[in-house]
Amino acid sequence: MTDSKRIVLSSDHAAISLRQSVAEHIAKQGWEVVDIGPTTPESTHYPLHGAAAAERVASGDCALGIILCGTGQGIMMAANKVKGIRCGVCSDTFSAAMIRQHNNANMLSIGARVVGEGLALDIVDAFLGAEFEGGRHATRVDMIEPS
Ligand code: RB5
Repeated sequence: MTDSKRIVLSSDHAAISLRQSVAEHIAKQGWEVVDIGPTTPESTHYPLHGAAAAERVASGDCALGIILCGTGQGIMMAANKVKGIRCGVCSDTFSAAMIRQHNNANMLSIGARVVGEGLALDIVDAFLGAEFEGGRHATRVDMIEPS
């Protein structure tokens, strides 16, 4: 697990309720949650929220990020356009741990219309509880975005 426990959360309108559940869940575990909204249910644009959260991670303001939209896919695509971001969509706990262990993911995306709240919180726990293994995986991760 990363040393810093500051984490950014964001979503579009399709995932406000689940985002709030995630925020409460991880705050109880001692995470400093930077929830950048939105807070109102009006239809909005997932690329804006994915990019905004990704910038918080890429800048070093937050160690990790969790983003959510209806499928988790669109907001993940937007986040991955920001240099330094490695974000995966997960609908299962195995993948959520593996994107940390093997891919050194610094952001997790979840689809609020894909998984229920209980599974979503388990996915979050798997992601936050896993550590990057380095070694041969570091070589491969470096190949994703050469500096
Ligand atoms: C919004 O209706 C929906 O398109 C969005 O939440 C997301 O699923 C896009 O990838």
